Amino acid sequence: MSSLDESKFDLNLQLWALRIPREHCTSVGRLLHGYMLDRARIKPIVEDPTSEKNRFVILSEKIQNSDLSEIPSYVMDELKVLCNIEAVPYSITLGYSYWGADHILKQILPCGMEVPTSFETVGHVAHLNLTEDQLPYKDVIAKVIYDKNQPRILTVVNKVGTITNEFRVPTFEVLAGKNDMVTKVKQYGATFKLDYSLVYWNSRLEHEHTRLVSLFQRGETICDMFAGIGPFTIPAAQKGCLVYANDLNPDSVHYLRINAQINKVEDRVYTYNMDARAFMHHIMTVPDSDSKQKTGEAVSKDDHSKELATNEKEVVTQEMLNAGKDHQDSLNGSSVKENTAVKRQLDKAGNVFQGNGNTNKRIRGFHLTVSRPWEHVDHVIMNLPASALEFLDVFKGLIQREHWRGSLPWIHCYCFIRSTETKGSILSKAESLLSTKITDPIFHRVRDVAPNKAMFCLSFKLPIETCFRDVNNVGAE
Ligand SMILES: C[S@@+](CC[C@H](N)C(=O)[O-])C[C@H]1O[C@@H](n2cnc3c(N)ncnc32)[C@H](O)[C@@H]1O
Repeated sequence: MSSLDESKFDLNLQLWALRIPREHCTSVGRLLHGYMLDRARIKPIVEDPTSEKNRFVILSEKIQNSDLSEIPSYVMDELKVLCNIEAVPYSITLGYSYWGADHILKQILPCGMEVPTSFETVGHVAHLNLTEDQLPYKDVIAKVIYDKNQPRILTVVNKVGTITNEFRVPTFEVLAGKNDMVTKVKQYGATFKLDYSLVYWNSRLEHEHTRLVSLFQRGETICDMFAGIGPFTIPAAQKGCLVYANDLNPDSVHYLRINAQINKVEDRVYTYNMDARAFMHHIMTVPDSDSKQKTGEAVSKDDHSKELATNEKEVVTQEMLNAGKDHQDSLNGSSVKENTAVKRQLDKAGNVFQGNGNTNKRIRGFHLTVSRPWEHVDHVIMNLPASALEFLDVFKGLIQREHWRGSLPWIHCYCFIRSTETKGSILSKAESLLSTKITDPIFHRVRDVAPNKAMFCLSFKLPIETCFRDVNNVGAE
């Protein structure tokens, strides 16, 4: 059966019921415990349509004799003492609407075929991964899953083929429900809007998103090189971090911005739509104005906090972001005048909230942020497991020593390890791309993605030998 004839699932039950006075329902129910109909979602005591004063107590399927001899005589005697009872035939039809998806699909699919009742849910979208042998039944499977999960599920899709595009977005076929994959998902108190047909999203990474963000401290600066729609970026910003978030997919960046707004962290999230390598070079390049100012200046770690205080004259406001100005405006110095004006506002208001670190300042409802990524970044997230390792060479000579403050960033680089590979071989690859040894690497197993393939997060402190062009005179630890 590959189409759906709903009447095929009708099950007619020929039962017995006791007609009793309504006021004795509770006592009769107690006495007949174990002898009443026991079917999920079906009440055994129902109204009598012919009389308001009576109720029907539907008896169990095991009671088939008209003299009700399956019920012990002492129970019947107690019932008769309690009230007038009348045994009547009673029939019920359990139809398509009664049965669960599992029951229906087991009848539809050939014997031995796996029943696909579990599926990934992304907002209102149910995402199936049907096997070759299930495909001839795809429409009927989707209809049953749709019918049985409404209104929570409004669209049922199946993944077509394997993911080959660089945005890591699968191709989907809509099998049932509305052809609309714009949806909302909640994770750890944040809301994410996305078009599941256009951007990457994997609900199974929720735990990993939470784990990594839990390592960040309020006030830290984070670079999310492959940010998607923001499952690391948004909670990090909610925690009070300043996040530079980038993705090559323009649709991901579109939803990333929307999500920053929905979660009210747009003042802490700078978005970029670039290749990750270009993005890192872009945000780490010291603007000309800064470069001149700092030439020849040696700054020790202890100067960091003093320097941060002076940074207040260069703040980037939400208004600038909303006006469509990219953060690069402030990076290249063109916003200094506007920023000085904001500084004056800030002085006048005299009501500055300063966070733990260098980044978050609040003034009468405005969030003002201060950051220069070429001076300091705490964490870099690289979640593109299929090829993030290949991007590690971007860190070679990336940081200008004379501008850098404090310790070097943690790199969190996601990768797959296949059965033919080891942590050692992955580490060697990372070290060869960085052209130096990695000290104290940490491998965290994220999840098994296939029988011979697991996703890992390799975390390490960026080695000093890699990132500075000249390491002889470094004030960083
Ligand atoms: C595995 S997804 C991770 C997204 C997000 N961090 C998450 O956890 O859901 C990888 C992301 O990298 C983006 N991407 C792929 N190649 C890229 C590149 N060269 N530069 C920047 N982003 C890229 C994709 O568009 C995709 O959104």
